[in-house]
Amino acid sequence: MTPSGNFSLHGSTAVIYLNNPPVNGLGHALRVELATHLKSAMQNPAVHAVVITGAGKMFCGGADIKAFNTPMSRAEPSSRSIIESIESGSKPVIAAIHGNALGLGLEFAMGCHYRVAAPGARLGLPEVKLGLLPGGGGTQRLPRLVGAEAALRMITTGDPVESAEAFALGLVDEVIEGDLVTGAVAFAERLAGMTGHPVTSQMPAKVSPAGSDMAAFFAKQRAAWDQKKRGFPAPRECLACVEAAYRLPFAEGLKFERERFDVLVNGVESKAMRHLFFAERAAAKVDGVPADTEQRAIEQVAILGAGTMGAGIAMGFANAGFRVLLLEVKPEALERGLVNIRKNYASTVSKGKLAQAEADRRMALIEGTLQYESIAQADIVIEAVFEDMGVKRDVFEKLDAICKPGAILATNTSRLNVDTIAEVTARPQDVIGLHFFSPANVMRLVEVVRGKASSPVVIATSMALVRKIGKLPVIVGVCDGFVGNRMVSHYAREAEFLLEEGCTPQQVDSALQTFGMAMGRFAMSDLAGLDIGWASRKRLAPTRPQHLRYSRVADRICEMGRFGQKTGAGYYRYEAGNRTPIPDPEIDALIASCSAEAGIERRAITDEEIVERTMYALINEGAKILEEGVAQRASDIDLIYVNGYGFPAWRGGPMFLADTIGLDKVYAKVQEFHAKHGDYWLPSPLLKRLAESGKTFARPE
Ligand code: NAI
Repeated sequence: MTPSGNFSLHGSTAVIYLNNPPVNGLGHALRVELATHLKSAMQNPAVHAVVITGAGKMFCGGADIKAFNTPMSRAEPSSRSIIESIESGSKPVIAAIHGNALGLGLEFAMGCHYRVAAPGARLGLPEVKLGLLPGGGGTQRLPRLVGAEAALRMITTGDPVESAEAFALGLVDEVIEGDLVTGAVAFAERLAGMTGHPVTSQMPAKVSPAGSDMAAFFAKQRAAWDQKKRGFPAPRECLACVEAAYRLPFAEGLKFERERFDVLVNGVESKAMRHLFFAERAAAKVDGVPADTEQRAIEQVAILGAGTMGAGIAMGFANAGFRVLLLEVKPEALERGLVNIRKNYASTVSKGKLAQAEADRRMALIEGTLQYESIAQADIVIEAVFEDMGVKRDVFEKLDAICKPGAILATNTSRLNVDTIAEVTARPQDVIGLHFFSPANVMRLVEVVRGKASSPVVIATSMALVRKIGKLPVIVGVCDGFVGNRMVSHYAREAEFLLEEGCTPQQVDSALQTFGMAMGRFAMSDLAGLDIGWASRKRLAPTRPQHLRYSRVADRICEMGRFGQKTGAGYYRYEAGNRTPIPDPEIDALIASCSAEAGIERRAITDEEIVERTMYALINEGAKILEEGVAQRASDIDLIYVNGYGFPAWRGGPMFLADTIGLDKVYAKVQEFHAKHGDYWLPSPLLKRLAESGKTFARPE
């Protein structure tokens, strides 16, 4: 469309369309066009009011994120100067919102005199999710319209509100049923002859409830934030800016907001979070599977095994409205699984996070069965039975015999070879891995494991299905542990070695938590259960290279019957009904005896060494995974780590961390560890090549 196509006159109301697909981002070209149309509307005596709306699916999705940290983001006409021209103009300007008004889109709308919205439109300031704050006046205008409490909630969570709520809050002046532009023009006509249209920046910040002590309110909010997350400066800065709306005149508040925004936008947190934002979009692209690949319809889902994972996966699908058949071999196991699911929903209901009727509706979607025949018509079967190759191959043989042609046969194995499972069927093209993370009804990540025969249709359908249930699919290839668990083995290995060399579990855990991991390595193992790793070590023992060092600490702990929280003891001990890890002198003694047996003299180890040994082990293995093509791109590995393993989002993932540190420095350390600690540290050839040529994982070419 030509610029003039985005401007039309409806009687004496000018209608301007923001037209910049796909989300009408307020990039420089669009701002130039908007400013031009606004100017001509202001100068045209036949125009008494202006409606600004979005072309296509939405009002405006926000700023152009790619232009952040570039001069173009503030090139004139800036959004700020466009708003100033609206506020100082004599004609009322109405933002007519449908779809989304997010970020700068909403900030711009708040700079208009009025806002009207279509039912179901979403209005929000999601900047905090990118480690930023709304830097286009949002922190100053929103509290003027809706008050501190609602403004803080919207700005520090980044979650949008829908039209009806926006209307109740005072953010929107009218919700328009029917055609939005027609309704907005009618709204504009009712303003004819009126003067003194509301200018948000000239209003006082709204005190609600009236008469509240705002200083005390903010002091309380600040104290609450200090107890929350480490490492995330953005929410605190959002709070400081909203507070400034009450402390400072508008222009000074705007200046304060700009300063705080600039600090954040240049900080590593926001760069990391923007990296993850783009990583999620890139992850949707799968080599050899074009975006227009045909997909199979999925309505009936079957899940095999009602254990920890099967039950969680069933809930994940029921939550998204799918019918689920849950198959078990033993009636008592089925009963236990269904009881666990019911309990889980009941607890969400009791916390007020889910309506009873909705919980009942979801529960009713899950049907238990003990008959393989009953899943014959399922469109997809997800196997979550014991982690044992023999058992899985038996199960897949049965599935092959029973399931209808075209059914997708998926395994939730966390480490086993998907190709070895697929080969027992006559339809390996329909077999794929869907590796969910525990608890599966909560965790967003799913590794989609592409077997050598998995067809593009099956891959495309699986990726889309995972997205449909609100999760994040990342494609990976076949190898022991795929991407996440393969890498975590190296991280875990170094953590064990550090114990033998002089650390306590609590020292390792505290260093990793200070670094930003959601949990320390050993507290995490106790939570997940130590028996799983023990079984896999026993399985892999015959293939373990004998010349490489092996720590006996974990095996010895398991030999004592300590499997973590479920047995009340693991690396730590636990008191009944309490999940707090308590350091245990018995474990300290066991570790010391392991050191002695291995002939290792215990030494003092710094937190820096703990972080470097564990993180560089991840990075070096990540580089090998990348080189082998098991992961398609470095940013996929980052997504896996951040969404599946509690890696701090504000550090962007292990590969982004490596790029931030500098690959030359990382490579030098890996070489040093190789010399000191042996062949586990064989440097990845890719890491070496990139380091020596001054490249990064993000831009390897
Ligand atoms: P679990 O032991 O809690 O549950 C397995 C269930 O499968 C049991 O209820 C058992 O009765 C049932 N079962 C066994 N053979 C069956 C058959 N032939 N047909 C139907 N049901 C059968 O195990 P969990 O932890 O749920 O693990 C299941 C799978 O998920 C394993 O492959 C595991 O590696 C994988 N996984 C586990 C994760 C975890 O954190 N626990 C994370 C990601 C994957």
